Amino acid sequence: MGSAGHRRRGLSDLAQVRHLDYRNVTETGFDAVSSIGLTEHIGKTQLPGYFGFLYSKLRPEGRLLNHCITRPDNTGPARVTDGFIYRYVFPDGELEAGYLVSLMHDAGFEVRHSENLREHYARTLAGWCANLEAHWDEAVAEVGDGTARVWRLYMAGSRLGFERNQIQLHQVLGVRLGEAGSPACRCGPTGSRQRQACGRPQSRTGRAPARPPVASGNHERQSSAWLRLSLGSHTVS
Ligand SMILES: C[S@@+](CC[C@H](N)C(=O)[O-])C[C@H]1O[C@@H](n2cnc3c(N)ncnc32)[C@H](O)[C@@H]1O
Repeated sequence: MGSAGHRRRGLSDLAQVRHLDYRNVTETGFDAVSSIGLTEHIGKTQLPGYFGFLYSKLRPEGRLLNHCITRPDNTGPARVTDGFIYRYVFPDGELEAGYLVSLMHDAGFEVRHSENLREHYARTLAGWCANLEAHWDEAVAEVGDGTARVWRLYMAGSRLGFERNQIQLHQVLGVRLGEAGSPACRCGPTGSRQRQACGRPQSRTGRAPARPPVASGNHERQSSAWLRLSLGSHTVS
């Protein structure tokens, strides 16, 4: 959803949409970062810097959810340059494997949870394919026959790839630990209500942890700050 969408839904006070390179986000102290479908564009050699940067953006006990298409094992190359997808859909794209978790550890995260949504993503793609077929004429009118056909083939092929375990979809949750390794939990996104509900101790002393410094501007008025990297745009809320 872009800025106009946020305005229409009355969310302007709660969220911002920015179109920029993720490395140009200057604020720090976020409660959470979700990176959706971006890792495929980072490149294996840049991954330590990527995870290190996101780690540096979080407050202590802040969380990163890293969601990306992955390879089922590490026996093949991350970058396959002679295929249809590389040529027509994701030039310079790379699919990483299980070492993503190790790299998150090495960047300082405690990895709390990892989930493979492979079959679910096949179903999502089946839905997208059906939607494209149902609106084929509109799609062609909007992007042209060639682009529409590329995406029809790409999505149908990706559905098969997920079904046959040629590709996977991993969501990995990592936490920047607080002082003295204070624990985190997988409960709700931010608020103290969720923390109390899960019974997690607030801190070693029993006192609630100090509110983390949050970013300037709109963020000061908010009870939480999220950074979402998605669709090439960044919603900082
Ligand atoms: C595969 S798409 C993911 C789209 C969407 N989040 C999804 O999951 O359907 C990857 C997006 O990452 C963006 N991207 C690549 N490198 C980036 C960077 N350095 N900073 C910000 N966005 C980037 C691309 O522009 C593209 O829109």
